[in-house]
Amino acid sequence: MLATVRAPRRLEGEVRVPGDKSISHRALILNAVADGVARVRGLSPGADVLSTAGCLRALGVEVDGEVVAGRGLRGLREPSGPLDCGNSGTTMRLLAGLLAAAPFPVTLVGDASLSRRPMDRVVEPLRTMGARAATGPLRVGGEVRLRGIDYVLPVASAQVKSALLLAGLFASGRTRLRQPAPTRDHTERMLAAMGAPVEVDGLTVSIRGPVGRLDPLDVAVPGDLSAAAFWLVAAGLHPSACVRVPAVGVNPTRAALLEVLTRIGVRVHRRDGRTQGGEPVADLEVGTARAARAFTVSGAEVAALIDELPVLAVAATVLPGSTRITGAGELRVKESDRIRAMAVGLAAMGAEVQELPDGWEIRGPRRLHGARVDSFGDHRVAMALAIAGLLAEGTTEIEGAECVAISYPGFWEALESLARPFRPPHGLETAEGGSGGSRSASETA
Ligand code: S3P
Repeated sequence: MLATVRAPRRLEGEVRVPGDKSISHRALILNAVADGVARVRGLSPGADVLSTAGCLRALGVEVDGEVVAGRGLRGLREPSGPLDCGNSGTTMRLLAGLLAAAPFPVTLVGDASLSRRPMDRVVEPLRTMGARAATGPLRVGGEVRLRGIDYVLPVASAQVKSALLLAGLFASGRTRLRQPAPTRDHTERMLAAMGAPVEVDGLTVSIRGPVGRLDPLDVAVPGDLSAAAFWLVAAGLHPSACVRVPAVGVNPTRAALLEVLTRIGVRVHRRDGRTQGGEPVADLEVGTARAARAFTVSGAEVAALIDELPVLAVAATVLPGSTRITGAGELRVKESDRIRAMAVGLAAMGAEVQELPDGWEIRGPRRLHGARVDSFGDHRVAMALAIAGLLAEGTTEIEGAECVAISYPGFWEALESLARPFRPPHGLETAEGGSGGSRSASETA
């Protein structure tokens, strides 16, 4: 599918983003092995989370809309074939950990993109725990006894940390994980809320197993900050914009984007801060930045905005000065090689972007122009390039636009609604906005 995007005269309105993808996966997986029934409201409708639900059903778990009927930690059933994780790295890695101690063998498969992604990072430590685990395709499970390990994670990865914590539920003794930098802590929060003996001490997370049971946990999933990121960047950098995104998760291990936006000169207003499902949530509002400037991102901050880097690269193209984003080599092993994909797409639109082994150097400001660009089948690349289209002159066409459904099925409709504000009441037009003058938005064919 090809999406067509043109710059609107104004970006304005409120947009509700889907439920957080990371929290949705965890709410399904952990409740699937809890002792009882839980309700998960606001689950992500994205294809990745549907992959998790499908795998859990294949393991005998009843997932009916919002309701998950937990089978207990030792109640999963042997699936009749390989588990299909689709495009979802989180599904594959977390389930590999959960099933490492299953009394039956399991094979986990995925699409072409997922089949290329590194799984050694979970297989090796699982083996050290005593698991029978192998790659190509990923296999775990069979009659084994796991033991806790002390492990220093070589990469800052919440998926690896979570996989090992899930295996740690079944291991005898303590599983202690030391991270090189903080990564999203949704698994720790949820496990603790379900009564598991999890301890967090700085960068170290431990669980003492084997754990007898998990209490079911009703979860109200916050809006996905990684989805909101597209609108926050677009609104901050579009010359005439005001966008509100209600009920977004602002967990500090995920919220570095908001700090970077502040450094750039974009003011993000957080309103009505509250806690929802054990996670901090706020309503976010952004308007056009008055004086924006280039920025740097490196080191520990990278893990706290890893999924937002493609859209931050878009921001850098229109900001005055030289932006350097480094320490983000992990982007090369996401759903696509995001460093390359964004460099190719942005260069085609007139950006001055240099690919680095672990990031980009981008000089601005450049007036981007529309071009035909490739999503590389990667949802975040497709959406980031769409935001570039909102800031560019002329028409941008994005190939493979349907992949946004991996995390954000309503993305194109949301873009359309922001770029074409509703007609004000009584047919009045405001000086800036109104529906009459706005050319643009997106079409998909
Ligand atoms: C995720 C962790 C991150 C992130 C991914 C979701 C998670 O991956 O990029 O989109 O839900 O744990 P890594 O753990 O590989 O860094």
